[in-house]
Order: sequence, then C-alpha cells, then structure tokens
Amino acid sequence: MTFDIITIFPSFFASVFEHGVFKRARAVGQLEIRVHDLRDFTDDRHRTVDDRPFGGGPGMVLKPEPLFLAVEDLNAGSGAKAFPVVLLSPQGRLFRQEVAEELAGHDRVAMICGRYEGVDERVAQALVTDEISIGDYVLAGGELAAAVVIESVARLLPGVLGNEESPRQESFSLPSGADLKPEAVAAIPGAPPGGRGLLDFPQYTRPPEYRGLTVPEVLLSGNHEEIRRWRRRESIAKTWRRRPELLQQVVLDQDDLEVLEDLQRGEPD
Ligand code: ADE
Repeated sequence: MTFDIITIFPSFFASVFEHGVFKRARAVGQLEIRVHDLRDFTDDRHRTVDDRPFGGGPGMVLKPEPLFLAVEDLNAGSGAKAFPVVLLSPQGRLFRQEVAEELAGHDRVAMICGRYEGVDERVAQALVTDEISIGDYVLAGGELAAAVVIESVARLLPGVLGNEESPRQESFSLPSGADLKPEAVAAIPGAPPGGRGLLDFPQYTRPPEYRGLTVPEVLLSGNHEEIRRWRRRESIAKTWRRRPELLQQVVLDQDDLEVLEDLQRGEPD
C-alpha cells in the first residue's frame, strides 16, 4: 500500500517511519510512504503556500493552487487510476478502527496535511474525497494525524504483525472477544459478522509482585475458563466506567448482564 503525504513540513516525517510497525510494514514490502513538499508546487520566489482569509480574521489559509497541482502530479504518475485523497482536519469524520479497515482496502491513498487556520474550502469541495479528524481537539496541523492514521492502517496489512490473517479478521478478533450487535455490524460498510465493542482487559507480566502491587490471583491459577471469565468481566467493567456508550453496540450474554447489574448496584467486581 502506498501513502502519498503532502505537507509543508516534509522533514517532520524524517524518522517517524523508521520505527516499529512502519519499519516492519516497509521491510516486508507492504507499505511505501512518499512525502511531497507542498512548496515544490508553488511558482513564486517565496514559495508561498498560504494567504490571508477573504472576509478577514486571524491567521492564514492554505491556498488552493499548490494543493491542486500536488494532487494532479500524483495522478499523473498513477496512470489516472483513482485513489482516495484524504484531508486531515478537525472538521473531518471521526477516525475509528472501521475507517482504518476501510483505508487498508486501498492500494494507494493520498493525504493532505492541513495547516494554519485552515485550507481553502475549494480543496475540500473539488479535490478531496474524504476528510478525517483523529479526535475532537485541534492540532497545529495534520502531520501527526497522518502518522496516526498510517500506523493504524499499516498494522492491518497482511504479514505486518507476524500473522498472515486478513486485516479484517485480525482486528475483529481482539482478545476482549465482544460481538457487535447485528444492527451495529450492518452499519459498518464491509464489516463481517462479529466485532469489537469492549475496551481491553488489564494485562500483567512478571514479576507477580512489585512494590507491594500484586497481579490478580486468578491470572496465576492456570485455570483458563476462570481467566476467560475474569477478563470478560474486567472488559465490561472498564467499558462501563469509561466508555458506557460502547456497551449499546455489544451483544451481552446472561453472565455479562449479571456483571453489569453488579456494577450498577455498586458491587465490587
Ligand atoms: N489537524 C488539526 N487538528 C486535527 C485533528 N484533530 N485531526 C486531524 N487533523 C487535524
């Protein structure tokens, strides 16, 4: 899969892609990242990429011409085959695991890193096919967001995490093991039956005691059924406390409902 990143800070990415999942995905030939300097698509002496907003107001807006030229240049190199052009901005649709899945289905994705007070709206109107926000907070630009999106997609590509399973199976069979309700699954384009809905249970490793902090006894017991039940209970409890809205999309069995009732009654889990 190829990502073309269009940015005014190409050196921002100098080391990010040399580590971890990025490095591995590139080493196994699943990922190629090309970074393009937006200023290369300007034609004035100052390599100007921004200008003041019409109508007044603070800050600067990224001009349309260099962005259109940069994307057209990518198209020229691709034999006119269509690919998504994503603008990273706080106005985009919220990035979630399903969106990562969706992007992982493409051979090539272009990403425009927004900057300053914004990007000329004609870019969103006529150039971009998708606008993505990585969360409800404002960054100074889209560079970090692009790295976040690419890492979450790269780990889904076959062979990157050391298994040959398809990305979709991998991400939809996480250890919390929750199934999404059929209606919720139907709402996710291309999603298979079953899915992730709960936050992960807590993990521990050696030593079993550190500074007086102990590992829950059950995890040392070797009783796999007890461990499975404990993990499920912990997942439900953590989800209920931190992200209760996620529970509405999860298929809960009788045991799960009892766990929830205990939590609602304030009983220790
Ligand atoms: N650029 C600035 N803030 C952003 C956000 N939250 N997500 C994506 N791109 C951004």
